[in-house]
Amino acid sequence: MQPSAQWIVDDLWAAREAQTLITGTELGVFTLIANGHTTADGVAAQLGAPVRGVRRLLDALVGIGYLTKDGGRYGLEPLSERYLVQGGEGYVGDMVYEMKLLWTSWGRLAEVIRSGEPVQPWDEEETGRRLFPQLVAALFPMSLNSAKAAVAALPDTRDTPIVSVLDVAAGSAVWSIPFAQADPRVRVTAVDYAEITPITRRYTARHGVAGQYTHVEGNLREVELGDGVHDLAILGYIVQTEGPKWGQRLIERCFHALRPGGQLLIADMIPNDARTGPSAPLVYALEMVLHTTEGDVFTFAEYRQWLTEAGFGRVERIDIPAPWPLVLATKPAAL
Ligand SMILES: C[S@@+](CC[C@H](N)C(=O)[O-])C[C@H]1O[C@@H](n2cnc3c(N)ncnc32)[C@H](O)[C@@H]1O
Repeated sequence: MQPSAQWIVDDLWAAREAQTLITGTELGVFTLIANGHTTADGVAAQLGAPVRGVRRLLDALVGIGYLTKDGGRYGLEPLSERYLVQGGEGYVGDMVYEMKLLWTSWGRLAEVIRSGEPVQPWDEEETGRRLFPQLVAALFPMSLNSAKAAVAALPDTRDTPIVSVLDVAAGSAVWSIPFAQADPRVRVTAVDYAEITPITRRYTARHGVAGQYTHVEGNLREVELGDGVHDLAILGYIVQTEGPKWGQRLIERCFHALRPGGQLLIADMIPNDARTGPSAPLVYALEMVLHTTEGDVFTFAEYRQWLTEAGFGRVERIDIPAPWPLVLATKPAAL
C-alpha cells in the first residue's frame, strides 16, 4: 500500500490545534463558559473583543473536542470542565501556558540545530533564575500522578522508613509532596534557586505539608547536599537539563548524601535504549537542544551505567502512568 500524506498533514495541523487550545486557555474561555457566558457574543463581551475571532475560536474548540455546541450555545466537554476551568482542582492551565512560553523558540529549531547555539539556555544560572519561575508550575500537573505512583512503588523495596528526603531541583516539589503527605514524620530538604522558593511554598502549603520542608537556596552545583544523612534523594527533571557531565556529578553527590541503604529516585523522560521511541522523550530531546548547552534525554542503560559507577547497587525501573519509567537506585547497606 502507498503511504498516505495524511500523516504529514495531521502532524502539521497538530501545531495549529495546539495553538487553538493554548489561545482558548490563555483567554480563559473555558472559565467564562463555566461561569454561564455560553454564547459567542457573551464571551466576546467579557473579553472586550470583537465577536468574529471569538466565534471562530469557539467553533475551532468544538472541532478539536474541547467544547460542545447546541445551536448558538457552547458548553464544556467533560475534559475541559475538569482540567481547563480556572480554580478547579484539576486545572492544568499552567501546563498549557508553558507551551505558549516555548512556542517562539520551537520556531527557531532549524537555526539552533545549524548553529549549535541554544535559545536562552536554562542551564546557565542567570537565565535559569529568570525562566524557571515561569516554567515549574507547568510540571506539577504533568508529574503529580507519577509521583504518587512512586510513593506506592517504594515501600516494597526499602527496609527502613523514609524520613529524610532530599528533593534536588525541587521546583513545585511535585515529587516530594506525595512522600510528605504519606507520612507526617517525613522531613524534606528542598534545593533550588531562591527565586523558586515562593513557588515551592505555595504548592507545599496548598497540599498541607509546608511545615515539613526546609529550603536550601542556591546553585545546586555548589550547595551542600549532606553527608550520609538522607533516606531518599530525588532528581526530578534535572539530569536531562544538566547533561552528562553535570548530571553524573549530581548523581555522585546524591550517592554521597544518602545513608547506606538509601535510595535515589530519578524522574526524567527516558527513551528506549535504541532511541527509537516513545515519541515524547525523542521529541523532548530537541527541547534540550533548544534550551540547554549540554542537556539531552538519557536511556535507562545510560542511567544504569552512571548509577553503578557512582556506587549504587540495585538499579530498577518503576512503571508509572507515563510511557517511560522512573529509575530507582539503592545505595548498598554496608559499604
Ligand atoms: C525542570 S524543573 C524540575 C522541577 C521539579 N523537580 C519537577 O520535576 O517538576 C528544574 C528545576 O531545577 C531548578 N534548577 C535548575 N538548575 C539549577 C541550578 N543550577 N541550581 C538550582 N536550581 C536549579 C530550576 O529552578 C527548576 O526548579
